[in-house]
Amino acid sequence: MKHTIDSLLAENRRFVAEQLALDPAYFEQLAEGQHPDFLWIGCSDSRVSPNLITGTGPGEMFVHRNIANLVVQTDMNLLSVLQYAVEVLHVNHVIVCGHHGCGGVKAAMSGHSGPAHGLVDHWLRTVKDTEQYFWRQLEPLEETARLRRLVELNVVEQVYNLGKTSIVQRAWHERRRPFIHGWVFDVGTGRIDPLTKMIDSDDGVQELCKFARGEVSGKVSGKVSGEVAA
Ligand code: CO
Repeated sequence: MKHTIDSLLAENRRFVAEQLALDPAYFEQLAEGQHPDFLWIGCSDSRVSPNLITGTGPGEMFVHRNIANLVVQTDMNLLSVLQYAVEVLHVNHVIVCGHHGCGGVKAAMSGHSGPAHGLVDHWLRTVKDTEQYFWRQLEPLEETARLRRLVELNVVEQVYNLGKTSIVQRAWHERRRPFIHGWVFDVGTGRIDPLTKMIDSDDGVQELCKFARGEVSGKVSGKVSGEVAA
């Protein structure tokens, strides 16, 4: 069904009625506060709906989204969300989730001859840096495989950036939490695959370099994660 602006509001009323039919106290309980255990850092892409693809409901996941799921050290928005999630909400897990078919990553790939997009091209500059840094392993790949690999490398880079923030460093020092995770979602299959282990230390962040150097396959398998069967 193609929605209109009016149908969004009509759907909202239907949602309220359905929830109340299931549990008359649902919204009263929700209004009491949130205790999410997860912070999700994902792409703004409309096909990557974090609650939908993880089966989580209201109150379970704190969410930050931007184009190409970037963790930029000077982004006050990201840093504020991260600080609040880690230091106030005490989430135990921070997930960076990229996705295959990411238009942001594709736009940043060299050789991609799309039109200029204005400000967003500046935002995506950091993806170009990642591409340049790993060019030796990206260059031999044909375009589809190269985009898939760059999507994965971009996630790993953002997990690395996350682990190096003062917020995460301090939290690790104080309570060995949160675990940080790098995931990739495939829009074409609906599956999420983990790219990293659960990381809760600088040693874990350093291990990411093995993936980035290609010592750990970009073809994700259960043994990379140990959490989710491939
Ligand atoms: Co995207």
